[in-house]
Amino acid sequence: MNELVHKPKTGELDTSHGPILYLEAVSVSFDGFKALNNLSMYIDAGELRCLIGPNGAGKTTLMDVITGKTRPDSGSVFFGQTIDLLQMDEPAIATAGICRKFQKPSVFETLTVFENLELALATNKGVWTTLFAKLNGTQRDRIEQVMETIGLTEHRLHLAGILSHGQKQWLEIGMLLMQEPKVMLVDEPVAGMTHQEVERTAQLLLSLQGERSIIVVEHDMEFVRSIAQHRVTVLHEGSVLTEGTMDEVQNDPRVVQVYLGD
Ligand SMILES: Nc1ncnc2c1ncn2[C@@H]1O[C@H](COP(=O)(O)OP(=O)(O)OP(=O)(O)O)[C@@H](O)[C@H]1O
Ligand SMILES: [Mg+2]
Repeated sequence: MNELVHKPKTGELDTSHGPILYLEAVSVSFDGFKALNNLSMYIDAGELRCLIGPNGAGKTTLMDVITGKTRPDSGSVFFGQTIDLLQMDEPAIATAGICRKFQKPSVFETLTVFENLELALATNKGVWTTLFAKLNGTQRDRIEQVMETIGLTEHRLHLAGILSHGQKQWLEIGMLLMQEPKVMLVDEPVAGMTHQEVERTAQLLLSLQGERSIIVVEHDMEFVRSIAQHRVTVLHEGSVLTEGTMDEVQNDPRVVQVYLGD
């Protein structure tokens, strides 16, 4: 071991072995029904991972477990090597740098694009304090940078309520980015988008990997193919059915079977 290598302190995110998320033998049951069944999965730091699988496979439940919304009956969930997510509540997990985008956009429709991003800076200061406080230069730069990333710079003064469905989704991704998350979980981001919006969303997510890890759940296979550069995980009946490149999983007879039935 190189002694000069930075050794993370207790409680600090340690991704020195590669993975940023470790899920091991995780099970969740609802009234005896196993929504997750002995599931194990590892996500690398900086990775963009697509998660696919038929309805009811457990994809959303998996996100609920990672974000602390649902407690598993058994198994372990670690953020980096040392941070035990099962010992933390939802707000603590969010503060640690794991954030989530739900399917429905939840932007503030009566505020502008800029103000929505500004609000996303609010940690515990409260909405009004944040809106009336003066932004410092770093915060202003950060908002500008995020607006550029999500392609909404020219809409900065437009109310979020008049944006298209796709633009609202990008704004919400921007609001997550304001918090500089280390892991972003995105559930069905392109549902209801136009073809062009789907393509732009693919470019956006591709541009975000590397600096952070992203888990994307989607049913739109053309979209998944366009962003799946590494591993795709296929979930079925609460477990990982298989993992591999998009070509590998699409040509796997078991995957074909769970999607099409026999
Ligand atoms: N709170 C809950 N109470 C009872 N059953 C639940 C609950 N949440 C999920 N389930 C069940 O667990 C299973 C997995 O659900 P989940 O929502 O994780 O699937 P999914 O893979 O996200 O499906 P979809 O592609 O339709 O979004 C389903 O059978 C669902 O009905
Ligand atoms: Mg779901």
